[in-house]
Amino acid sequence: MEARKSIPSKCLILLLLLIFLKSVSGIPYKIPRLTPPIKTMSRDPNNILSSSLLTKDLKTYFYKQTLDHFNYGPQSYATIKQKYVINFKYWGGANSSSPIFAYLGAESPLADDLQSLGFLSANAPHFKALQVYIEHRYYGKSVPFGTMEEAMKNESTRGYFNSAQAIADYAELLIHIKEKFSAQNSPIIVIGASYGGMLASWFRLKYPHIALGALAASAPILYFDNITPQNGYYSIVTKDFKEENFYQNVSHLEDENRKLVEQLDEHKVMVENANGEIGRLSAEVEQEKTKYSNTKEKLSLAGWERRL
Ligand SMILES: *[C@@H]1O[C@H](CO)[C@@H](O)[C@H](O)[C@H]1NC(C)=O
Ligand SMILES: *[C@@H]1O[C@H](CO)[C@@H](O)[C@H](O)[C@H]1NC(C)=O
Ligand SMILES: *[C@@H]1O[C@H](CO)[C@@H](O)[C@H](O)[C@H]1NC(C)=O
Repeated sequence: MEARKSIPSKCLILLLLLIFLKSVSGIPYKIPRLTPPIKTMSRDPNNILSSSLLTKDLKTYFYKQTLDHFNYGPQSYATIKQKYVINFKYWGGANSSSPIFAYLGAESPLADDLQSLGFLSANAPHFKALQVYIEHRYYGKSVPFGTMEEAMKNESTRGYFNSAQAIADYAELLIHIKEKFSAQNSPIIVIGASYGGMLASWFRLKYPHIALGALAASAPILYFDNITPQNGYYSIVTKDFKEENFYQNVSHLEDENRKLVEQLDEHKVMVENANGEIGRLSAEVEQEKTKYSNTKEKLSLAGWERRL
């Protein structure tokens, strides 16, 4: 009786597991993002900074980028199309050695970023800077091999999808831009946010002859295993909230969190119990099977006896 009653909960757990697995495998090219989704950021149409970005001032270009910067086999010289966008509006021109602000694309299509970026255009007038926005390979219009499906096809096509190749792209393209616009004397400042900020700082370290400086916003440069404390991000955010007197609300969330963890533990115990039950039930079924076949054997023997 006990055993039978627990069957529905087992089914439920199995069902949940199946749903979970299905929802994970059902998304084809869902690449995890470090940056919050653009939709959650403020996109005020009246905001002068972002609206100035959406105007005719932007010119789009495509560069024939080297597929593989780190190998010298013939296939490495294949090229991929890389999108970049330039805003000349505030540029003082090459002869004035006005700087180049280069936005290094991160893990999203450039078109998405352009709608939320304001930092470059806000600072460009003061520095008479040229604004350059470059798309990260494998995103938006800079997907190699024609389609994302082809690009993700196998380990060789996917293998060119990494941050070392991405910053090498930026290096090659920025040198090209300097030549194209005779801007050899214009210092370059690379700028990025989140993962893009990490790229900007790595770029400055690796290509100091190309970028005079890097600005990394909200970039978790050292946020890797065993470098910073695992809870570093949360403790800093909590501190911020505390300072802004939002702590009551945060501590309420902490309580919720604790409750959730407790619930999870309960579920773990439930799953363990369910596994135990399944084991017991299987044993019972085996016993019944044996009994059944024994009875069948006896019956058929009895039949023989009767016929004899
Ligand atoms: C920049 O300087 C060069 C050489 O002095 C000159 O030929 C050229 O016209 C200048 N360009 C602009 C846009 O002033
Ligand atoms: C990956 O796909 C490409 C394009 O179809 C093909 O040329 C290449 O041999 C494949 N590589 C592997 C390791 O399967
Ligand atoms: C806490 O959150 C509630 C809404 O859930 C809000 O009304 C209240 O003002 C917040 N308290 C503080 C101290 O911010």
